[in-house]
Amino acid sequence: MSVARLRLAPVGETMFPPRAPFLRYDRRDVEVSYERRGRERVRAVAGASLTVERGQIVGLVGESGCGKSSLARAAVGLTPASAGTILFEGRAVTPLRRRARSRELARLQLVFQNPYSSLNPRRKVGAQLADALEILDLLPRRGRRARVAELLELVGLPANAAQRYPHQFSGGQRQRLLIAGALACRPTLVIADEPTTALDVTTQLQILKLLRDLARDFSVAMLFVTHDFGVVAQLCDDVMVMYAGQSVEAGATAEIVERPRHPYTQMLLACHPDRAPDLAGIPGTVPSPIAPPSGCRFHPRCPSAREACRAARPAAVVAADGHAVRCVLFEHGAPQLRTPNPDEPAGADV
Ligand SMILES: Nc1ncnc2c1ncn2[C@@H]1O[C@H](COP(=O)(O)OP(=O)(O)O)[C@@H](O)[C@H]1O
Ligand code: SF4
Ligand SMILES: [Mg+2]
Repeated sequence: MSVARLRLAPVGETMFPPRAPFLRYDRRDVEVSYERRGRERVRAVAGASLTVERGQIVGLVGESGCGKSSLARAAVGLTPASAGTILFEGRAVTPLRRRARSRELARLQLVFQNPYSSLNPRRKVGAQLADALEILDLLPRRGRRARVAELLELVGLPANAAQRYPHQFSGGQRQRLLIAGALACRPTLVIADEPTTALDVTTQLQILKLLRDLARDFSVAMLFVTHDFGVVAQLCDDVMVMYAGQSVEAGATAEIVERPRHPYTQMLLACHPDRAPDLAGIPGTVPSPIAPPSGCRFHPRCPSAREACRAARPAAVVAADGHAVRCVLFEHGAPQLRTPNPDEPAGADV
């Protein structure tokens, strides 16, 4: 019934076949590295995979510096994947300049954290929205003004907003403008990278509600990047937890929030302000991607760490309901879990 929209290719030994048989992908996790002249390469994503299905909202959660934005940017072709293949609607995403993006890829849109930097301060917003329609040749010129008014209405802005400049809007309104810009391309998938982080709490809730309503009303799938598990719990059907450039746990949000298995997920959830307002966060810091810890990268901060955790990255283990985890505590013999078999139908990717 549903078709995988975006697949960040999973690792060989823990591969889950795609739900749609026509979908191709290779057998490696996605990696993203930054080359720096005269300095060490930064391997910001060192093994992550996830799948977003048609109309689904998937959360990508982890502390700052875990590689979420690098993975999100690679998914829209703004940063090349140094290993693995990213497939959108069955076709590989290749790095392209934003303007040169093909019409197919225009249906995959990224909404950034900072609405200030993404709008041209010298052009009226109506003209900027019309530009998007023109570049993609989505509508004849005479239909564009009406479509701009329609887009503004969809995101809760008055039609006369088209005649104003970006600085005449509040932060929340500017974020609405960016969402209107993303919708102009009639996307089937929106990747939203911390789109509410810069906003106050009330505005944040309004924007989250807007995104959720739009996703539902137009069957737009969404990959929602955040460091806030509270937002994931409100918005996302599925979630992938990322630590130090690697995926560590994934599955249905309700299941993961109720029964987190990975110690990192448990600690992320435990220090959420709603549950424990006094906790500042998880003790310690996310390691640098230049010299990450061996084995399970969480071991220096993990209260359950043991010798085996330092030796090798734990294998992914997936339960029948698709709840997948990479932690030695679940590698051998947790009765309700099994190791994935590449020939079986898909579960969540980790
Ligand atoms: N353009 C870049 N060049 C070098 N290092 C980068 C670049 N972008 C991100 N990084 C590094 O990669 C790691 C992951 O960053 P990022 O993907 O932004 O994580 P997150 O979005 O989870 O905060 C960080 O250590 C960051 O400093
Ligand atoms: S593998 Fe070991 S260090 Fe990593 S989360 Fe599990 S128990 Fe903790
Ligand atoms: Mg980020």
